[in-house]
Amino acid sequence: MLQNALTIADLKARARRRVPKMFFDYADSGAWTEGTYRANEEDFAKILLRQRVLVDMTDRTLASEMIGEPVSMPVAIAPTGLTGMQHADGEILGAQAAEAFGIPFTLSTMSICSIEDIAANTTKPFWFQLYVMRDRAFIESLIGRARAAGCSALVLTLDLQILGQRHKDLRNGLSAPPKFTPKHVWQMATRPFWCLDMARTKRRTFGNIVGHAQNVGDLSSLSSWTAEQFDPRLSWEDVKWIRELWGGKLILKGILDPEDAKMAVGSGADAIIVSNHGGRQLDGARSSIAALPLVKQAVGDEIEVHMDGGIRSGQDVLKAIALGAKGVYIGRPFLYGLGAGGRDGVTRALEILKRELDITMALCGRRDIRTIGPEILDREPRLE
Ligand code: FNR
Repeated sequence: MLQNALTIADLKARARRRVPKMFFDYADSGAWTEGTYRANEEDFAKILLRQRVLVDMTDRTLASEMIGEPVSMPVAIAPTGLTGMQHADGEILGAQAAEAFGIPFTLSTMSICSIEDIAANTTKPFWFQLYVMRDRAFIESLIGRARAAGCSALVLTLDLQILGQRHKDLRNGLSAPPKFTPKHVWQMATRPFWCLDMARTKRRTFGNIVGHAQNVGDLSSLSSWTAEQFDPRLSWEDVKWIRELWGGKLILKGILDPEDAKMAVGSGADAIIVSNHGGRQLDGARSSIAALPLVKQAVGDEIEVHMDGGIRSGQDVLKAIALGAKGVYIGRPFLYGLGAGGRDGVTRALEILKRELDITMALCGRRDIRTIGPEILDREPRLE
């Protein structure tokens, strides 16, 4: 029963039981030692909140804005590749859950459902995340498709010029569509609900990429395909080119260093996402929540700052907002919800975060998320 899931960890446990190992591991993995992946989650516990009492806690609101768009809480769904392998038609279900909840959904370039699939199954604009490939004509066509689908923001990912290595994916022989070696057949056969759902859809490979003849290549090995296609020469000049080509709201994703953040200010982007790709790229980099105040200090209010990485509770959301993020994104909490129960599972993940965020904000003595700043944090040294 999804209603018995009280935490994101409960949804994760349920997803582990329902999603074939190779795809569950794809979500629950980081680069190399996974040190940065772990730090993303663990560093939140080092930040303390101030408990306040005897203040009016009625009439609270979590409603806010991200890049000028109204959001029912300052949380967006992060772009994640292969999401339609966590659950059949996963991106459509995620977009529908986000739309009903009143928060942004970001579709990955490497999604299973295509840009057009999402547009056909939702009623409000969604955001599209772009990876820059060597083939610039393909980039132009993707941007054209996002525009035609009515996407209201382009999220340009900067931290994947080359792919960080994740041992679990290599050991599992991860592929999309799934391979049919005995090991993979066994992994799928032990997940009957996943198989039943998957039998009802034809969407099993990268929807934005197949059909684009010159780009199809060999999709069966994700890591070699990425190495072949993604552009290792990506530069600030390209950001400018994409800025002009797209014309709409632009968000730069994957900035961790204050120097890069300062460069982004002059790029014409509307927002940056402080992110280390969920610990999947540079293992050994600092956690996103540790980077956030440094980035915020460097750019001040010159550009809207968002963050992602390690958000697992409403407390985490509030801490990120207090440290200067206008909004945050969730990757794995979304995927765990999806794996645990499709659209209802994603809704459950959002409900959990929203309730925790609301109660935490109230117990900090505050009623309006838009007024939250560093004053809600306890800066005194803690007892060891
Ligand atoms: C990602 N992420 C990602 N980012 C992106 O820009 N394009 C993509 O296709 C993907 N794919 C992807 C797949 C999976 C399985 C994960 C877990 C992550 C990174 C993602 O957008 C986000 O930065 C992190 O997931 C945030 O960290 P948490 O919330 O997962 O801890």
